[in-house]
Amino acid sequence: MNAAAPSPATPHAGGLVIDVRGLNKRFGDKHVVNDVSLQVRAGEIFGFLGPNGSGKTTCIRLMCGLLTPDGGSGTCLGYDILRDSARIKREVGYMTQRFSYWEDLTIRENLDFVARMYGLPDRRQAVDSALEDLGLATRSSQLAGALSGGWKQRMALAACLLHRPRLLLLDEPTAGVDPTARRDFWETLHQLASQGISVLVSTHYMDEAERCHKLAYLSYGRLLAQGTAEEIIAGEGLATWSVRGADLTALARELREAPGVAQTVAFGAALHVSGSDAALLERTLREAAAGRPLALEPVATSLEDVFIHMMRRSDDNYGSPA
Ligand SMILES: Nc1ncnc2c1ncn2[C@@H]1O[C@H](COP(=O)(O)OP(=O)(O)O)[C@@H](O)[C@H]1O
Ligand SMILES: [Mg+2]
Repeated sequence: MNAAAPSPATPHAGGLVIDVRGLNKRFGDKHVVNDVSLQVRAGEIFGFLGPNGSGKTTCIRLMCGLLTPDGGSGTCLGYDILRDSARIKREVGYMTQRFSYWEDLTIRENLDFVARMYGLPDRRQAVDSALEDLGLATRSSQLAGALSGGWKQRMALAACLLHRPRLLLLDEPTAGVDPTARRDFWETLHQLASQGISVLVSTHYMDEAERCHKLAYLSYGRLLAQGTAEEIIAGEGLATWSVRGADLTALARELREAPGVAQTVAFGAALHVSGSDAALLERTLREAAAGRPLALEPVATSLEDVFIHMMRRSDDNYGSPA
């Protein structure tokens, strides 16, 4: 791919394209973003994880100057998020959570419209190269409304690359997109990152989380972890065993109440059983397996195990009863 080259560099400290501290946002009496500090380095693909309603979209809007925080400060592309929001909005590529282009215009017409909004000097050329870069050239005359989810997302990505941003903020870009199209989309993100374009991307998909250089996990507006997948897994301090055998559903029910077991998660034909006290967990599992045809095996704790654990912890701490 011959993707858009980044626009001329603006100064920003320490190679950070996003550097925000202590962000807070309330809507009425709801504390939606609670003391969030987050750093994204240039060229990084930074994954933003968290359940629905955890504050991901609000955080993204605070970081690109679309919303004003109640507290906190920081920079995006070196610009102050409080004072320079107009610059930020112009220089980032923001793909909103809902598809927001014109269904009754063709791909080319949509991109041309966006190029016009940005006042791009050589519109025709900008649109042509975006079509080419995103593999949309042969479909340019198709109506946006007739495209599959995957092609719509590709068009939306092309639109937010037209003005050659150095930072992309992608809010659940692959929600509802089929697995093959999701894989292709991620290949494109990695190509963009290799050209120095930074990407902050929110997602629900665990396989996508694993494709990010760094991750942050948000729950009830609080950032529970930030770092590489390895750092986040190590930080949670869980031991995990895989258990195979008959009637794992009943076993899971039994184990959940047992000493040393923090959680059980069904993983295909196996049950992942995790706990913070490795020795106690092992003892419990060995006792449960005594006289029963269960196969026990210690396994590496996965990102999914860790995110489930974090979500439970924060439900206990901040969650209101359903
Ligand atoms: N403009 C708004 N006014 C009132 N409440 C809002 C507004 N935007 C978001 N919220 C609330 O803030 C919480 C977090 O929303 P959001 O940032 O969209 O989370 P996520 O993107 O993680 O699903 C939700 O409870 C949502 O209902
Ligand atoms: Mg959202």
